Amino acid sequence: MSTTSNNAELIDKLNRALALEMRAEVEYAHYAAYVKGINRLHLKPFFESEATESFNHASIVRNAINQLGGEAVTERDHTAILHTTDYQVMLQEVLETERLAAKTYHGILEMVTGNEELYDLIEQIYFAEVRSIEELTQLI
Ligand SMILES: [Fe+2]
Repeated sequence: MSTTSNNAELIDKLNRALALEMRAEVEYAHYAAYVKGINRLHLKPFFESEATESFNHASIVRNAINQLGGEAVTERDHTAILHTTDYQVMLQEVLETERLAAKTYHGILEMVTGNEELYDLIEQIYFAEVRSIEELTQLI
């Protein structure tokens, strides 16, 4: 990957996205464990697949940071994860998580210039976040 003039700022933003993905992974895994009642049938696998998606996004972002010569963070975003067994609350919480992720990736796309490979990677993740938002909006 080529270097850009705003590399340090870009690495900071990617680290922000990475910390959010690590938080999202824990949030989804937590809700997959605690979702109760008949909705557990659908929502447990849904939350688990979203947790896996967050793990995969984190891997892509981590590798990108490494390629840019940066040091990836190892701590998740510290925003508290609300414990609940109410699936409606869970869906609202993860919708906020996805909205913040989409906004963060959108901001990163605006910063990436002259690095088509990185742009494409981040764009794919951004589209996945937008799809998650659309899906969650339908579920709520
Ligand atoms: Fe993601």
